[in-house]
Amino acid sequence: MLECRDLATFYDVSQILFGVSLSLAKGRSACIIGRNGVGKTTCLRTIMGLTPPAAGTVTFEGKPLNRLPPFKIARLGLGYVPEERRIFPDLTVEENLLIAERRNPNGIAWSLDKSFEVFPALQEFRERQGGFLSGGQQQMLTIARTLMGCPSLLLLDEPTEGLSPLMVRTLEQAIIRLKQEGLTMLLAAQDMHFAHNVADDVYVMNRGAIVYSGTVEQAKADEAQVMAHLAV
Ligand SMILES: Nc1ncnc2c1ncn2[C@@H]1O[C@H](COP(=O)(O)OP(=O)(O)OP(=O)(O)O)[C@@H](O)[C@H]1O
Ligand SMILES: [Mg+2]
Repeated sequence: MLECRDLATFYDVSQILFGVSLSLAKGRSACIIGRNGVGKTTCLRTIMGLTPPAAGTVTFEGKPLNRLPPFKIARLGLGYVPEERRIFPDLTVEENLLIAERRNPNGIAWSLDKSFEVFPALQEFRERQGGFLSGGQQQMLTIARTLMGCPSLLLLDEPTEGLSPLMVRTLEQAIIRLKQEGLTMLLAAQDMHFAHNVADDVYVMNRGAIVYSGTVEQAKADEAQVMAHLAV
């Protein structure tokens, strides 16, 4: 479904990604893991066209995405949940969701009711303004908002960053539920723990390059090697 080949991405003159290749089959979830600043966000931004690559290709369902503007890439069925939570603080939870509603016959079948089913806290606070939600609730709202566009591929950047252990577990359960619904996902995280719980495949990134890739089972078996790449 998604194929990245030899991506090289720069911010001005500094090169951030060095020949990143990864592939994701329909219905699978992959997690890019790596320390602070290794290029995880840049990789997701490159796929979305927010920071286009200087070299390499991104192919989605057989179509090259290179040089398409981000809104066209989104319309092809890619949903992106950035690290910073993007909600409208003055709108209610329900309004935040309804305003993001879009049809995509090829994507996940999603709705307001589905949002409330997968994220019950959003139903409880449906009349509350987004700005008055907790960090974890805002993260759920950000994810649900993106799902209201019925994406066929969801990019999730460090969804559990900065949340309480209880909220992390709640979000992991929701992401597992999305996987059961057949949604294809590319996630980013700093450690292996999150990947173990929600992903099929793991890509370890260091200094802008993929230094290890394999299934979660393989990564568990190769734990020492994976941990060495994640060590400071
Ligand atoms: N807008 C920008 N302009 C210049 N350099 C940037 C910009 N955004 C990120 N960088 C640099 O690019 C490198 C990779 O950053 P990136 O945000 O992709 O890493 P990350 O793996 O997502 O890190 P984190 O775990 O902190 O989110 C870092 O060295 C960072 O300082
Ligand atoms: Mg990041």
